[in-house]
Amino acid sequence: MSKVTLAEGVYWVGAIDWNIRNFHGYSTRLGTTYNAYLVVDDSIALIDTVKAPFYDQMLARVSEIVPLDKIDYVVSNHVEMDHSGSLPMIMRDASKAKLITLEKFGESGLKKTFHSDWPFQTVKEGSELSLGKRKLVFIPTPMLHWPDSMASYLVEDKILFSMDAFGQHIASSSRFDDEVGLDAIMPEAAKYYANILMPFGDLIVRAVDKLGGLDIGTIACSHGVIWRSHADTIVNAYASWGRGDSRSKMLVIYDTMWGSTEKMAHALVDGAMSEGVDVKLYNLTKSDKSDIIKEVLDAKALLVGSPTLNNGMFPTVAGFLCYLKGLRPKGKIGAAFGSHGWAGGAVKAIEQELAQTGIEIVESDLAIKFVPESDELQRCFDFGRTMAKKVA
Ligand SMILES: [Fe+2]
Ligand SMILES: [Fe+2]
Repeated sequence: MSKVTLAEGVYWVGAIDWNIRNFHGYSTRLGTTYNAYLVVDDSIALIDTVKAPFYDQMLARVSEIVPLDKIDYVVSNHVEMDHSGSLPMIMRDASKAKLITLEKFGESGLKKTFHSDWPFQTVKEGSELSLGKRKLVFIPTPMLHWPDSMASYLVEDKILFSMDAFGQHIASSSRFDDEVGLDAIMPEAAKYYANILMPFGDLIVRAVDKLGGLDIGTIACSHGVIWRSHADTIVNAYASWGRGDSRSKMLVIYDTMWGSTEKMAHALVDGAMSEGVDVKLYNLTKSDKSDIIKEVLDAKALLVGSPTLNNGMFPTVAGFLCYLKGLRPKGKIGAAFGSHGWAGGAVKAIEQELAQTGIEIVESDLAIKFVPESDELQRCFDFGRTMAKKVA
């Protein structure tokens, strides 16, 4: 196994999960990594661990550098088990290690998760840990991704161990941004942000401001590639996503029973295309919701369609809207559409859901009985144009 070095005495000792395809509902077609890091100075610190089944992979990487009983500190930046899962094994095997965690939520979260009484050493905003020639400073980053989340900053090497923030679900043989390339990384970073961190936009803006005050050379995040050449690119992207910046882009998201709502969806897209805006269409039965959410991130308008089923919307549409609501997208406009037989209901129900999500309903009443005729499709086309003009 070749050693991966971030700076002299600083190593990546994580695990590559090539085969994960579903990360609690988020599709991870490229797999992921669980990044752990080892800082070897007069004292030795292991920063985070890996998901439990990958302990042996981490162990092999650490053991190549130092014997486990030389580790002085294990830093737990986050309670979630993709990073803390190997704590029971490492705290057993690294017999003299103290466990560093955030005073607020960290210690209690780890105790409630693992029911173990490890030798905890709690830290708070600005706490420092000297390792000899260099030191770690701890920076709470609440809700990036849980209340217990913190970043650790290795001052002398300008390395920010940022935890979940700035990550991406990418398994690759290369560890660094300049090896994998921004074209491959940024779409995955956006998908990760949209599906995991979008609800916390305001906190992100604050965190980016706070972290921006540091002199950051490398961002060593906990999933995917390490930012050593383009740290500013991902920090700027987070600032933009956190603000909810959007562009002239519209999404048409729907499901269909006998093809009528689908006909409407296509007419809406045609209308929007005639105005020259970027528009994308997604059938919810055929598309993955976490891929659609990635597109929601920078879209200005969402048009959501459903046929009426039992006086309400299709379960696939309801499921998507429930997911969307939890992610609290900022600054979007929207509208609903759909076909029905004898009685409607879906369009009103969607409008209600969108409004509760904080999406401003700017056009309404695009409901059609049974199969749309040409004049009704023209209405859909015009509706698409009207919406497109609002995002242009
Ligand atoms: Fe997490
Ligand atoms: Fe994570």
